[in-house]
Amino acid sequence: MEDLLTQSTLVQLRVNGKLHELEVMPFTSLLDLLREELHLTGTHMGCMTGHCGACTVMVNGRIAKSCIVLASTLERAEITTIEGLRTADGKLHPVQQAFWDEAGFQCGYCAPGMLMSAVELLKENPNPDDAAIESGIAGTLCRCTGYRSIVRAVKAAAVRMNSPEA
Ligand code: FES
Ligand code: FES
Repeated sequence: MEDLLTQSTLVQLRVNGKLHELEVMPFTSLLDLLREELHLTGTHMGCMTGHCGACTVMVNGRIAKSCIVLASTLERAEITTIEGLRTADGKLHPVQQAFWDEAGFQCGYCAPGMLMSAVELLKENPNPDDAAIESGIAGTLCRCTGYRSIVRAVKAAAVRMNSPEA
């Protein structure tokens, strides 16, 4: 039993397009790996119990709460963090730009969850109504905004992403 808890595993995974090979302990969460090993601190540490959404990333194209994902289960996974949303030429992702323009954040602690959830939602539903947006972001808690500016920002992002220049 002691061995199981102290033996590290070698994991190869891609984070924001970059390949990493890392030794991880059985109890290392993806959140710890991102923040402590790779210094990607844009993914926030909140409740650590899978409830607040501040630690949300994409794992193989789907949103996941990184505090409750064990790093050792991620062999060959593709991870995208909030840092990886920027376009190749360094511009903000249309969802990030819309949140900026619409003042979608105050303290910004919920940003990883709101942005990643919005990106996933708009991929699946390019024209969401208020109810669909509320449902899409329901996994992330925001203590500051009252959510209206966030819903507005997701709608603005949809308009941007549906425009011919997007
Ligand atoms: S820190 Fe992961 S859900 Fe709150
Ligand atoms: S802006 Fe502060 S938690 Fe959402």
